[in-house]
Amino acid sequence: MDGTRPGRDELLEIAVEVARQAADTARRMRADGVSGISTKSTATDVVTAADRAVEREAVATLRAARPGDAVLGEEYGGADGTGPGGDAGVRWILDPIDGTVNYLYGLPHYAVSLAAEVDGEVVAGVVRNAVTGDEWTAIRGGGAYRAGERLRSSTETDLGKALVATGFGYDPARRAHQAGVLAELIPHVRDIRRFGVASIDLCLAAEGSVDVYYEKGLNLWDHAAGGLIATESGLRVDGLAGAGPGPDLVIAAPPALFGPLHDHLARLDAAGGP
Ligand code: IPD
Repeated sequence: MDGTRPGRDELLEIAVEVARQAADTARRMRADGVSGISTKSTATDVVTAADRAVEREAVATLRAARPGDAVLGEEYGGADGTGPGGDAGVRWILDPIDGTVNYLYGLPHYAVSLAAEVDGEVVAGVVRNAVTGDEWTAIRGGGAYRAGERLRSSTETDLGKALVATGFGYDPARRAHQAGVLAELIPHVRDIRRFGVASIDLCLAAEGSVDVYYEKGLNLWDHAAGGLIATESGLRVDGLAGAGPGPDLVIAAPPALFGPLHDHLARLDAAGGP
């Protein structure tokens, strides 16, 4: 490793510390009620005072720990979040509250998602459910873990028996397209789940609590940490037709299910539409 590059263990340690602090802040603020609600891309895409406060606090802690790094955050973007990440090549990718609609309604299912990227590759990541304290971590090449247990994804080989998690964007036209895809897919799978937190969906796939996950329209902060955790648990995480995971589509599936699911999603134009 380049002498100026930090170790992956060190980055994960920082990520976990920041995510725990951020999760505590989110949970404490929720106990006092939801404030500062405004909308972003559409009337259903909300942001709250807590999303902003958690991001500000997490960025300040990251800056204190590693002053030269870049940070890409959901709410403020991060003034330097698009660059390669200073001298050490590190960029942090943060979703302060993934599952903001669950947060709004008091559903105990929202998360802090934080990944560390070095020279453009995600090398460490943590997703922490802010309410339950469930925490999933991974280091590239070092496996994925929850509560000290190494994660092994589903070994299901029959798509017809696969439990599929997915999600929807906030734009009504996009949702209509996504719902159309789902209506055509559901006869070919066991059932579907929609939990409302993309980062946790990926972790549930990583631990085999669902067999596969796919979604169109994710931002990097939704899938950077969860995608690494899913990969390190044995899932293939990719897009359509050889593309990597990205805004067009993220598919996370056991190797035996990836092809069949991919082909259904390609036929249904899951990466298309608005
Ligand atoms: C959303 C959640 C949701 C997914 C959406 C995301 P947010 O993130 O992860 O499950 O379906 O695509 O935008 O807005 O709660 O941070």
